Amino acid sequence: MRSKFFWKNFLSFVVIICFTTFVVSYLLIIQSQNFIESTATDSLREKLVIFEPYFEDGVSWRDPEQIRKIVEVAREAKVRISVLDQDESLLLESDANEIMSYENQRPRPELSEAKVKEVGLAKRVSPISKLETLYSAKKIETPRGTLLLRLGVPMQKLEERLKEIFTALAIGAAFGMVLSVLIALILVRRITDPVREMTKVAEAISHGNYAARIRRLPANELGTLGEAINRLAEAVQANISRREKMEKIRRDFSSNVSHELKTPLTSIKGYADTLLEGAIDDKENNVRFLRIINSNVERMVSLVNESLNLATIEANEGIVELTPVDWKPIIQEAVNRHQIRMNEKGIVFKHPDAAENMLVRGDRKAMFHILDNLLQNALSYTPANGEVELKVISDNKFCELSVSDTGIGIAKHDQSRIFQRFYRVDAARTRNEGGTGLGLAIVKHLVIQIQGSITVASEINRGSTFTVRLPSV
Ligand SMILES: Nc1ncnc2c1ncn2[C@@H]1O[C@H](COP(=O)(O)OP(=O)(O)OP(=O)(O)O)[C@@H](O)[C@H]1O
Ligand SMILES: [Mg+2]
Repeated sequence: MRSKFFWKNFLSFVVIICFTTFVVSYLLIIQSQNFIESTATDSLREKLVIFEPYFEDGVSWRDPEQIRKIVEVAREAKVRISVLDQDESLLLESDANEIMSYENQRPRPELSEAKVKEVGLAKRVSPISKLETLYSAKKIETPRGTLLLRLGVPMQKLEERLKEIFTALAIGAAFGMVLSVLIALILVRRITDPVREMTKVAEAISHGNYAARIRRLPANELGTLGEAINRLAEAVQANISRREKMEKIRRDFSSNVSHELKTPLTSIKGYADTLLEGAIDDKENNVRFLRIINSNVERMVSLVNESLNLATIEANEGIVELTPVDWKPIIQEAVNRHQIRMNEKGIVFKHPDAAENMLVRGDRKAMFHILDNLLQNALSYTPANGEVELKVISDNKFCELSVSDTGIGIAKHDQSRIFQRFYRVDAARTRNEGGTGLGLAIVKHLVIQIQGSITVASEINRGSTFTVRLPSV
């Protein structure tokens, strides 16, 4: 079953084809009829000229021998010949049957016309043969008075010719119509099939099937329309999947945050209860308990702060404008910030004092945050007497900044996970450092935001190297 749309289009074509065929056929038939009749009239007129000389002297045609000859010629020329005098009295008639009915044949317009205009024409039904006959008459002046010479030819023959033409025309028209209808069928299908498919796909998309695509794309405007619909579907699909992903991130994030908050809160509640139950007077422990409460509160504060940080960065994703930035002043500031704590912990801190090209395409704030976090981690996860080294290597394509330490290292299977939120290797060991597990997640986000990349190389108990790569300017 084809669609209503198809039938509407197809039937309009069929109506146009039929109408055109009938009009053209009708005009052709009329024209043929006129043509045949005028040809017949012309030939009758010519024949009148052929017969005229027999009657010119007004006497010799009356000879029986001559009459026989005239009748003979008429038969050969396939015409009926009649000769009449001025008063329309019959003098000669080649068709014996017609003589009997002669008196009934009035009026005879061809004769009346011939008397006035030299040549007369008429088409009428002969009462004997009952055949429509074409008559042509001519007035001939002879020394023995006026004669009217008349030739007649039955229309039957002409009508047979016309029928032949009509049959040929009918066959041609029928053939043409079938062919046109077939072509119309193909043309209409070429339009309605893609439209039908597009409608189906558009409906599917509107019902939530975002994976639906138009497969057949014709090389015309319909194809362009199909491509546009496909692109639209793709955009919608991408948006939906992005939204679902964001939804999941948000869900995970809030469950992680509440989970992370539970530990310090339980601890605070425990120590506060202990103090209330009398430990407040325990001179040996009361300050220690308060310190533990305090450090847990600090941990919660930093957790909340970093969560907010991450949320802001995610919200800004793709909005940051990249500009040429020099690593040098950023490194300077970060080094100043960490130098004292490195010294306090007894860590040797090496950093470049001047390098040739440290210009990259990026964002100052993001780059500072990245470096600050990496140095913070190096400091946190490197024991006393270790070494932290900051290096910059650049060529005309990329600039790589690396932070290496001789710290505790990260096992292979953890290396891919440390960039996830709240992920900490061996949580028990690092919790003392007050880490939230958000630092590298933020770093990763920022690096992506400024269109760079970050890698980690590490060996357990030997140290780690984090490398940030950005395009050189
Ligand atoms: N330089 C490093 N050496 C060894 N382990 C590291 C190093 N940097 C990161 N890690 C491991 O990766 C984990 C995730 O690091 P991340 O910076 O994301 O969190 P964090 O340092 O624990 O907390 P914070 O949010 O305070 O930075 C750390 O807990 C630690 O186990
Ligand atoms: Mg960290």
